[in-house]
Amino acid sequence: MSNLQPIGIFDSGVGGTSIWREIHELLPNEKTIYLADSKNAPYGEKPVEEIKNLSRKNTEKLLDMGAKIIVVACNTATTNAIKDLRNEYAIPFIGIEPAIKPAALNSKSKTIGILATRGTLTSTLFSQTSDFYARNINVVEVEGRGLVELIEAGELDSPQMRSHLLKLLEPFLVNKIDYLVLGCSHYPYLIPILKELLPKEVVIIDSGEAVARQTKSILNENNLLLKEAPLQTPIPEFFSNTNPKVLENLTEAVQNAYQVSYLDF
Ligand code: SIN
Repeated sequence: MSNLQPIGIFDSGVGGTSIWREIHELLPNEKTIYLADSKNAPYGEKPVEEIKNLSRKNTEKLLDMGAKIIVVACNTATTNAIKDLRNEYAIPFIGIEPAIKPAALNSKSKTIGILATRGTLTSTLFSQTSDFYARNINVVEVEGRGLVELIEAGELDSPQMRSHLLKLLEPFLVNKIDYLVLGCSHYPYLIPILKELLPKEVVIIDSGEAVARQTKSILNENNLLLKEAPLQTPIPEFFSNTNPKVLENLTEAVQNAYQVSYLDF
């Protein structure tokens, strides 16, 4: 394994680009390859065995493309499959988990909200984390049913998204949360509307920055971090197994000349 190889990132679709963005910002000299498995989105409603198999399929593809580390930029895949991936493949994996710890530690009202998929909320890893860090906290869990589908369709701020969100957010308003944890890598794209729809004192937390820092630190520990800037700045590459238009828009690929392509995987 060489430090010149790319960082591989996969998600059930386009949402993990919120994590890619943080990684690219922190490690601009590293080559990144992103796989959007939009054909199979959302993972959040699928049986655990299927989530594991899809995660294996994405991993194999990224390994074929030479990845030196794999970032599972999907909460549902992390909470349900990362343990198996780590057992089955000899490559470091970085996962993304809902940031319950900082929310529970900082909440003054002792009531925090978590918006995530059913797959994440029902996973063992999530309940262990929640039991450990939020023992004395009221955790209001809401399944973000339908949100991933709308985001995959490029509807980040449509009237349908707004009215759907208004209904979903009701338990958070009734229970007066002061922290909202975003437990799905698609949801950071909703932060502008969430800020409008929630009381302004509610702090919204996502895990992107922490995942980027963890990626850097694990690359360093494994001697896989690029030590100096390459002669040519690498161009991030994105692949989608459906129409790559939404991926292109979200990553601002056209302005930045990133490569976005269709790939059957
Ligand atoms: C999904 O595919 O259902 C959402 C992805 C995630 O959990 O981050």
